[in-house]
Amino acid sequence: MKVLSVASEMYPLIKTGGLADVTGALPHALQRQGVDMRVLLPGYPEVLETVERCGKARAMDLPLGAAQVERCNVDGVTVWVLDAPDLYDRPGGPYLDPEGRDHPDNWKRFALLAQAGARLAQEGGQGWRPDVVHGHDWQTGLVAAYLRAAGSDMPCVHTIHNIAFSGRYPAAIFPNLGLPEGFFGVDGVEFYGDVSFLKAGLVFADAITTVSPTYAEELTRPDFGHGFDGLLRARAQDFTGILNGIDTREWNPETDPLLERQYTVRSLGRRRVNRRSLYTAFALEDDRPLVSVVSRLTHQKGIDMVFEAADEIVAHGFNLIVLGTGEQEYEGLGLAAAGRHSGRIGVHIGYDEALAHRIQAGTDALLVPSRFEPCGLTQLCALRYGALPVVAPTGGLVDSVIDATPAAMARGVATGIHLRETSPAGIVAALDRLMAILNDRPCQLQMKRNAMNTDVSWETSAARYAALYAALTGNGDAPATADRRPSER
Ligand code: ADP
Ligand code: GLC
Repeated sequence: MKVLSVASEMYPLIKTGGLADVTGALPHALQRQGVDMRVLLPGYPEVLETVERCGKARAMDLPLGAAQVERCNVDGVTVWVLDAPDLYDRPGGPYLDPEGRDHPDNWKRFALLAQAGARLAQEGGQGWRPDVVHGHDWQTGLVAAYLRAAGSDMPCVHTIHNIAFSGRYPAAIFPNLGLPEGFFGVDGVEFYGDVSFLKAGLVFADAITTVSPTYAEELTRPDFGHGFDGLLRARAQDFTGILNGIDTREWNPETDPLLERQYTVRSLGRRRVNRRSLYTAFALEDDRPLVSVVSRLTHQKGIDMVFEAADEIVAHGFNLIVLGTGEQEYEGLGLAAAGRHSGRIGVHIGYDEALAHRIQAGTDALLVPSRFEPCGLTQLCALRYGALPVVAPTGGLVDSVIDATPAAMARGVATGIHLRETSPAGIVAALDRLMAILNDRPCQLQMKRNAMNTDVSWETSAARYAALYAALTGNGDAPATADRRPSER
């Protein structure tokens, strides 16, 4: 089975969030399922600087402009890099300029990526032609539309990682996209009078997936669907949630070279060394229970509620560490909280993979109070590292963390805590429940062991993607719509 994955970011080449982790991990996980997945990625400067090229570039004359496609090798995975310097080789990130504004020509940058994806899918490259095309998020929604416009019936999968971003542009851009006129309608890319790239994916792909079963359910409701809930209800037969995993070789407390002290589920006591080193790094004073946040600092992540609750979190006996970067307002709130409570709250503004590992290996709990969370990866890392996740009851957080209810405790299966209410008071109440658990040593140990024994790998979910590709190409049954719950992993 050959699959072309088209994506706007991919770890370790370019990453703004969990999307990159997923597009980077999937080809490796699928290899073990007999699926040969190759990736098409824009040639941002960071990508062109680091990739190892194999052979000669191929020229592509696309409707939106000329480009070169470089075939590259990234840790054994073939990545086709779309080199169009006018569109991708510029300062800033994949989506934003150095001032934090959207690149003004994002519609063109990602329409070109989709045109290249559709072309590569149809013509193949160097003796390789995919059986299925798999796009991710709005940036690649048009791939399926271009394939259908060209009369191709190649099976397409479209995955929603975050529906809050829908690639919405004024109708005036439609004639530039080079799609048939009839595609601008309610059964096409039109969305409340505008063009939506995400809608193209949701309408024209044969199968739609999202990154957890609970988020799949949530997306069919008006309060979470961002206007797409009706379409997703109509396509219920083709829509399923497949929970993300993490790369368990990179996130392995037994071998992680970034840690002060490695440990296993049988030597949990050694975590203390990592905890102490965090206390030193953040100049925290007393040896109190430690709760941490590793996150983009945005409204989605509920980070404002953490800072609103900061005084109470300290008053209730916790120390707090926050590692994150994002909106300036939240960065300011974080630094102010750290200023008010020096020795009790440590805030590091920035993106730091190594520190993220060290925090997971030393903190008692990881707080994820998201307003919505399609999957979330940090709570999976926390489970793997024996940090108890304290999470909002939404999306993939529900599907990956077993709440310490009396019933779950009695059965000895709890792995974390669900907030009863996603609010500053809800955070404090959940931390009070956490404190009771931390004060009960056997109970704490049991939960940390349960957490570390949770399967957070890609294996089960990669098998589900493989089954989906097989079903679409007529080589198997479609996976059942209902996915596993955490206790079944
Ligand atoms: P999202 O993609 O919505 O930001 P996820 O939880 O899916 O959320 O993925 C976030 C990824 O980025 C994880 O791999 C997490 O460890 C990482 N991450 C987020 N913020 C930071 C940071 N400040 N430093 C290091 N890693 C971070
Ligand atoms: C998005 C979501 C996050 C998810 C990630 C990878 O960034 O916000 O919840 O884990 O995509 O699928």
